[in-house]
Amino acid sequence: MKGSNFPLFLVALLLPFFALSTLAADTIAVNQSIADNQSQTLVSSGGSFELGFFTPSSSSSSSSSSNLRYIGIWYNFSKQSVVWVANRDSPLTDSSGVLQLAADGSLRLLNSSNAVVWSTNSTKAANPPRNPLAKLLDSGNLVVGESNSDDYLWQSFDYLSDTILPGLEFGHNRETGRDRYLTSWKSPDDPSPGDCTTRLDPDGYPQIFIRKGENIVFRSGPWNGLRFSGMPNLKPNPIYTYEFVYNSKQIYYRYDLTDKSVISRLVLDNQGILQRFTWTTSTRTWNLYLTAQMDNCDRYGLCGPYGSCNINNSPPCGCLIGFEPRSRQDWDSGDWSGGCVRRNDSVCGVGEGFQRIVSVKLPDTSKSSFNASMDLGECEATCSKDCSCTAYSTLNITDGSGCLLWFGDLVDVREYTENGQDFFIRLAASDLVSVGGSKRKTRLWIIAVCLLAVGIAALGFFLIFRFRRKRLRRPASIMMTQERDQTVDESREHELELPLFDFSTITKATDLFSESRKLGEGGFGSVYKGVFKDGQEVAVKRLSKDSTQGLDEFKNEVITIAKLQHRNLVKLLGCCIEKEEKVLVYEYMPNKSLDAFIFDPKQRKLLDWPMRFHIINGIARGLLYLHQDSRLRIIHRDLKASNVLLDYDMNPKISDFGMARIFGGNETQGNTKRVVGTYGYMSPEYAIDGLFSIKSDVFSFGVLVLEIISGKRNRGFYHEDHKHNLLGHAWRLYREGKPEEVMDETMNDSQVLSEVVRCIHVALLCVQQAPEDRPKMSNVVLMLSSDILLAEPTEPGFFTERKVFDQESSSSKVDTCSTNEITITLLTAR
Ligand SMILES: *[C@@H]1O[C@H](CO)[C@@H](O)[C@H](O)[C@H]1NC(C)=O
Ligand SMILES: *[C@@H]1O[C@H](CO)[C@@H](O)[C@H](O)[C@H]1NC(C)=O
Ligand SMILES: *[C@@H]1O[C@H](CO)[C@@H](O)[C@H](O)[C@H]1NC(C)=O
Ligand SMILES: *[C@@H]1O[C@H](CO)[C@@H](O)[C@H](O)[C@H]1NC(C)=O
Ligand SMILES: *[C@@H]1O[C@H](CO)[C@@H](O)[C@H](O)[C@H]1NC(C)=O
Ligand SMILES: *[C@@H]1O[C@H](CO)[C@@H](O)[C@H](O)[C@H]1NC(C)=O
Ligand SMILES: *[C@@H]1O[C@H](CO)[C@@H](O)[C@H](O)[C@H]1NC(C)=O
Ligand SMILES: *[C@@H]1O[C@H](CO)[C@@H](O)[C@H](O)[C@H]1NC(C)=O
Repeated sequence: MKGSNFPLFLVALLLPFFALSTLAADTIAVNQSIADNQSQTLVSSGGSFELGFFTPSSSSSSSSSSNLRYIGIWYNFSKQSVVWVANRDSPLTDSSGVLQLAADGSLRLLNSSNAVVWSTNSTKAANPPRNPLAKLLDSGNLVVGESNSDDYLWQSFDYLSDTILPGLEFGHNRETGRDRYLTSWKSPDDPSPGDCTTRLDPDGYPQIFIRKGENIVFRSGPWNGLRFSGMPNLKPNPIYTYEFVYNSKQIYYRYDLTDKSVISRLVLDNQGILQRFTWTTSTRTWNLYLTAQMDNCDRYGLCGPYGSCNINNSPPCGCLIGFEPRSRQDWDSGDWSGGCVRRNDSVCGVGEGFQRIVSVKLPDTSKSSFNASMDLGECEATCSKDCSCTAYSTLNITDGSGCLLWFGDLVDVREYTENGQDFFIRLAASDLVSVGGSKRKTRLWIIAVCLLAVGIAALGFFLIFRFRRKRLRRPASIMMTQERDQTVDESREHELELPLFDFSTITKATDLFSESRKLGEGGFGSVYKGVFKDGQEVAVKRLSKDSTQGLDEFKNEVITIAKLQHRNLVKLLGCCIEKEEKVLVYEYMPNKSLDAFIFDPKQRKLLDWPMRFHIINGIARGLLYLHQDSRLRIIHRDLKASNVLLDYDMNPKISDFGMARIFGGNETQGNTKRVVGTYGYMSPEYAIDGLFSIKSDVFSFGVLVLEIISGKRNRGFYHEDHKHNLLGHAWRLYREGKPEEVMDETMNDSQVLSEVVRCIHVALLCVQQAPEDRPKMSNVVLMLSSDILLAEPTEPGFFTERKVFDQESSSSKVDTCSTNEITITLLTAR
């Protein structure tokens, strides 16, 4: 047992006192204990893990400091890297807790009044263990067993918290009925069980589900012999090996580290995102290695039954071959939950067949059956005999063996460009698309079918539309209409999971929008920190009143924007619309915004290159999502350091991304008289001519990257040798062959120089004068993450300071400089 930090002689003096607790460092025997008030811990034999009492606190939030004490297991290098918590439901309120092993073999946590607050139910009434021992193994597993046996009475690997450690069997034991699954923490500093779970579901053909409350939010897809069908990024790698075991006794997923010097773990966070992290000793940070949920298409059932999601399309939802949207109207307005229906219903009996669907995540297998010894031919024959069988596929993609049969609707299909899987869907012969044969014929045939379909659909809509109009015009009372509207509203809110808050709740949470709660101010309104009754911290944005949008329009817009979810975008939690007031409620970001780090002489020292690179990549991905992957195609128009927020783990999150849409109404692309943006980040064509496009965002991104690398603001940059701003400075150094001098002097890491120089190069490509020369964000992401050859940048736009813009605009809210024809509204930084 590791003693406290007493000097040695004191420890020696006290030894008689603690005689009960000074045996092996990794075990507790009967009548021994570890006490919180003596800072005693167990350390596993190899030193990898430590068990003891702790109070969770996320690195940066000091506001919610509680004194609750938990028993937990953490990595030896950081008490904050907790992998398991015992008394999640029953924290101690002081540090008088004692963990002891009773003679009956149960490990108990006692509080100061000697009441059992938590215990392992490791007793065997009939056959009490003879020499029980509790031991912390070097795998991070706390076990209770008889001292000379490997057959444990109890182990912490059976009662998981939010972390899957190497060697742990995640899943079901079919003999004992034991289910090992993850439950998220409530928040980063509250280990009590949160809403989200990750569980291996044995129904049909096993899959892993992530749920938020009752709702499925992600599905791994079935195991296909190599990986889970919906996790194409799970592939052989230098860090860990993985396996999926499925037999009559058990079903589980497990991974093992290939190299013991690498530390890696799989964690379910309180937002329901399953992520793998690896520990970097040199920087003492957990780095994100991969995420189960990669993008919007990973949201379970986004496109409804028989829909198919493709992240490279905009909008991402389409229908499987032979299907069409159930309601074209809903579909076109971005509500895909209704899914798709067959073009031709007559699928059982004569003239039917199976259509191959290529390179996808297999549909939900909860309602499926399988037979490992059939081949594909037998599989098709079996499926075609049963009218309720909708599709079939192989089980094992390495040798194409086995048969998987679906019954019922096909849900949660997405397309992959690589590492996808094929399956066969039952269709009427008329809907089959033959792949062979004369191409031209096929094409004509498709065109004919399409025209026909479009015709039928148009007719259908015409009729539906007429029918609806008629129904609405029926002389029903106004009351009825109102009622109906209300219910529609409610059901819609429910479905979209966007809470509407009361204005009174918001005022309470923000102390009547008090100045002391103000986090910042932007062009669209002020932001306040709010705390709800239950302790949840949020950021509340009170929109200024000059929006021209009507209420319904505004609400629709907010609901649509709330659907955009990406790990690099700030999450919208809800809104409040009351009379004049429009308020948006966001998740609260404890680390504030990026400018508070990179431009602060103290804080910026905390940002080493890997961290900065991580932030740059995150912003790039978030922006790519806005430009291309989201269904809305948003041009941010005000990307800057203060609009990039940082979460607990320093993941960057772009904020204010829907604002351009909410405020701009229909002027979301093209040309505007009212230039919204921040000088220093605005591209020349935008600032001068009011022309904006995704390329003006790319320009802002380039500026931001240079600021992150240099730790200096583009606006107000000063150099004694020349009058250029940061862009001009970087450009000069690049031309002179010493781009590395742009780098922040607090980062003197020469090992990463090539990466830094590459980033500077990419940034210079982004800030080129001509929009058409600048790369798209998809290209930027590629250039940052691979070694592809980079083009030579041309001169950047706006690289000399202009007198007209030179005045500081840091205190006033809106600062308008008028030149002859253009008006530039400068929005201040928060
Ligand atoms: C543990 O303590 C109880 C009560 O003091 C005592 O009866 C028992 O013999 C002890 N057991 C061992 C193994 O020391
Ligand atoms: C943590 O454990 C590892 C073995 O897993 C060991 O190499 C390392 O030195 C330990 N670190 C500390 C700070 O004890
Ligand atoms: C530690 O806690 C135990 C149990 O609550 C108590 O008996 C003991 O006196 C405390 N020791 C110190 C040093 O506070
Ligand atoms: C100890 O736990 C018991 C049972 O949970 C509780 O009734 C008692 O108040 C606790 N004592 C202290 C001092 O917290
Ligand atoms: C122990 O058993 C009780 C009653 O069966 C149960 O409520 C409790 O959750 C169990 N505790 C653990 C740690 O399994
Ligand atoms: C899949 O087939 C390969 C090659 O026959 C075999 O090695 C592997 O064990 C099979 N996997 C499963 C899960 O059956
Ligand atoms: C539907 O399929 C059946 C059988 O293949 C075919 O006879 C019928 O013409 C099809 N109907 C339409 C509208 O395509
Ligand atoms: C699986 O298929 C084989 C070959 O067709 C058949 O003999 C066997 O009975 C099937 N097993 C089950 C459980 O249906």
